[in-house]
Amino acid sequence: MIIASTQRLILRTLDEDDLDFLMSIWGDPEVMRHSGGPGSREQEVKSLKFYIRLQKEKGYSPYAVIDKVSNHFLGVCGFNPPSDLGAIELMYHFAKEHWGKGYATEAAKACLNYAQQNEITHQLAAFIDPANQGSEKVLRKLGFQYMGTAFHPGSRKVEPYFMLHL
Ligand SMILES: CC(C)(COP(=O)(O)OP(=O)(O)OC[C@H]1O[C@@H](n2cnc3c(N)ncnc32)[C@H](O)[C@@H]1OP(=O)(O)O)[C@@H](O)C(=O)NCCC(=O)NCCS
Repeated sequence: MIIASTQRLILRTLDEDDLDFLMSIWGDPEVMRHSGGPGSREQEVKSLKFYIRLQKEKGYSPYAVIDKVSNHFLGVCGFNPPSDLGAIELMYHFAKEHWGKGYATEAAKACLNYAQQNEITHQLAAFIDPANQGSEKVLRKLGFQYMGTAFHPGSRKVEPYFMLHL
């Protein structure tokens, strides 16, 4: 199911056939350097099943981000379930050959619109590794505000976190 269409991108729900694409992102040590490290194929089979169910049951999940022209899979952007902070989390991971082209900001904006229009939540959280300047820039461009630090289950570290009221 397509959940958003932007100038350059299509965002669609994940399905069982996406495992190879997802492994090219979630299995890449460089992409996952600031997000707890790469996942194994076995782990990501479970993640994919979890996210497909999450979308069916709660109406949100990470989405496949596709280039409208080439039809190539560029990355993943969407939502994780609430952590201890109690707010649904915005997340984005792109293949490294597609960094620096504004795709994360464009895809994340589409996700914020989707959350607003479908009344998914009125508050989003996002954690960053302080060394991840690109990620912090994306958050600030979207209007997220720095709140402090908290434990992040994804990276298993205490990290700065940001919040946005929709
Ligand atoms: C972080 C990430 C999603 C950014 O994606 P992107 O598509 O390159 O981001 P954008 O092109 O929308 O860039 C947004 C801004 O950040 C800047 N930026 C991007 N990468 C940067 C970097 N490594 N260092 C400094 N600034 C950076 C861009 O220049 C842009 O700023 P500008 O508009 O002022 O020029 C991408 O690098 C990525 O997938 N990284 C690995 C996964 C990850 O760390 N995800 C976040 C986990 S919290």
